[in-house]
Amino acid sequence: MTIKTLRNIEEIRSCVNRWRSKGARTALVPTMGGLHEGHLSLVRHARGVADHVVVSLFVNPTQFNNKADLEKYPRNEESDRSKLADLDVDVLFAPDAEEMYPKGFTTEVTVAGASDILCGKHRPGHFDGVATIVTKLFLQTGADVACFGEKDFQQLSLVRRLVQDLNIPIEIAGVPTVREKDGLAMSSRNVRLSATARKTAPKLNATLVKARNAILEGQKISVVCKTAIASLEEAGFSKVDYLELRAEDDLDELKTLDRPARLLAAAWIGDVRLIDNIIANKVPD
Ligand code: PAF
Repeated sequence: MTIKTLRNIEEIRSCVNRWRSKGARTALVPTMGGLHEGHLSLVRHARGVADHVVVSLFVNPTQFNNKADLEKYPRNEESDRSKLADLDVDVLFAPDAEEMYPKGFTTEVTVAGASDILCGKHRPGHFDGVATIVTKLFLQTGADVACFGEKDFQQLSLVRRLVQDLNIPIEIAGVPTVREKDGLAMSSRNVRLSATARKTAPKLNATLVKARNAILEGQKISVVCKTAIASLEEAGFSKVDYLELRAEDDLDELKTLDRPARLLAAAWIGDVRLIDNIIANKVPD
C-alpha cells in the first residue's frame, strides 16, 4: 500500500486535527529513517494504542555532535517507505530541513541534568537537539501518544521528563528493545559494522547480562562495572564510554541495588558507537 506522505507542518497538523474532531486517537512514531525491525515494533505498538499512526522521518542535524556521523547516517526514503508498506501507517511525515529549522531559528530545549550524564557527557549537545526536535514534533502533530524504543533508554527518560515539565498533552510509550538472534540490539548504525565488528558487537549485550547476574548475586557494583568494561575492551571494543548502573525512573547513579534499575553501556567498535541497556534488578521473564 502506498503511504500518504506529508512534508508540511500545516498539513500534518490539520490532518491530525481532523481525526481528533471525529474522536480518533493518533500515535506518533518519531524516526530518523534507516528503519529496522526495532522501528517496526514501535509502529506495531502504535497501531495497538491508537486509531491512526503517523511515522515521522527526519534526520535531525542538531542532535549529531559529530559531522561525520551525520553524513554517514543511512538515508533512503523509498526503502523506509517499503518497510512500512504492510503496517497500516496512515501518514509518513517527512519534512525537509527548512521546514523544521527555517532561517532565523534560535530556540533550543534543554532538559537540565538528563543531558549531561551517560551519552550526554560523551555527545555534547546531542540531547538538546533531541529535546528540541521531539518538542517540535509533538507540537506540530498534536499526537495523543508517542512511541519510543527502550534501546535509547536515556532518550526515553529525557522525553518523559520534558513532556511532564512543559505540560505537553501527549502520552509517552516505551517499547522493549528488539534484538538480533545473537543479542545485538537493533540499530540503524549496525549496517556500518564490518564483518569482524559484527561478530564482536553482540558481546555488548552478553557483557551486560553477565554483569547484571553478578550484581544480582550480590557482587560489589563498582567492581562488576569495572570488570565488565575491561572485558569489553578485551573482546575488541576500541573504547567504552560508560557502563553504569542507574535508577530506572530518574537515572540516578546507584551504588546499591535498592530500587528498579538499568545497566546501561555505550562502546565503540572502530568508528561505530553502540549503546545498549538491560533491566538490572531482576532477570526478565
Ligand atoms: O531515536 C531517534 O531516532 C531520534 O533521536 C528521534 C527521537 C527520532 C529524534 O530525532
